[in-house]
Amino acid sequence: MVPVHIGILTVSDRASQGTYQDRSGPAIRDWLKLALKVPWLEHYRLIPDEQGLIEHALKELCDQQDCCLVVTTGGTGPALRDVTPEATEAVCSKMLPGFGELMRQVSLKSVPTAILSRQTAGVRGRSLIINLPGKPAAIAECLQAVFPAVPYCIDLIQGARLETDADFVKAFRPR
Ligand code: MTE
Repeated sequence: MVPVHIGILTVSDRASQGTYQDRSGPAIRDWLKLALKVPWLEHYRLIPDEQGLIEHALKELCDQQDCCLVVTTGGTGPALRDVTPEATEAVCSKMLPGFGELMRQVSLKSVPTAILSRQTAGVRGRSLIINLPGKPAAIAECLQAVFPAVPYCIDLIQGARLETDADFVKAFRPR
C-alpha cells in the first residue's frame, strides 16, 4: 500500500535555535501513530517564527511532498513573533474556522489562556493544514477533538483516504 504523506511543522524560534528540544512535533507524531491505521510517511520540519519561512514550508509540504495533511504547532498566540495563522491563511484557498473554534472550546476547559490562541485550519489544493497550539500538553487534547472530521475533510478535497483506529479516535463520514 502506498503510504500517506503527512507534514509535521514545528514553528518555534527557540526550538529551531536549539535553546530547547522540540517536544510538540514529537507529540504530534506519537498521537498520529496511535490514531492512524493506514501506512504513513512523516515529513518533519522545524523552523523559526518567520512568516516567509512558514509559508515556504507549508507550500513545500503540500505541493512538493504531496501531504494530504499538514499539522503545525506553535506561533498561534498574540506575541509579536506569532505569525503561524497569518502564514496559513496566506497559502490557503479556503479557511475552515470550525477547527480553531472547537480547539479553543476544548482547551478553555484546561486553561483560561486558550482564548489567546488564534489557531485555524484551511485547505491548499488537496491538503488540509491545521494549526495546533505550541504547548506539548495541548497537542493530544486538540487533535482528539478535531480529528473525527479530518478524514472526511480530506475525502472532500480529494486527498488520500485516511483510516483511523476507531477505539482511539473514530472518523465520522456522513453518508
Ligand atoms: N491550549 C491548551 N490546551 N493548553 C495550553 O496550555 N496555551 C494557550 C493557547 N492554547 C494552551 C492552549 C496559550 S498561553 C497561547 S499564547 C496559545 O495557545 C498560543 O500558543 P502558541 O503561540 O504557542 O501556539
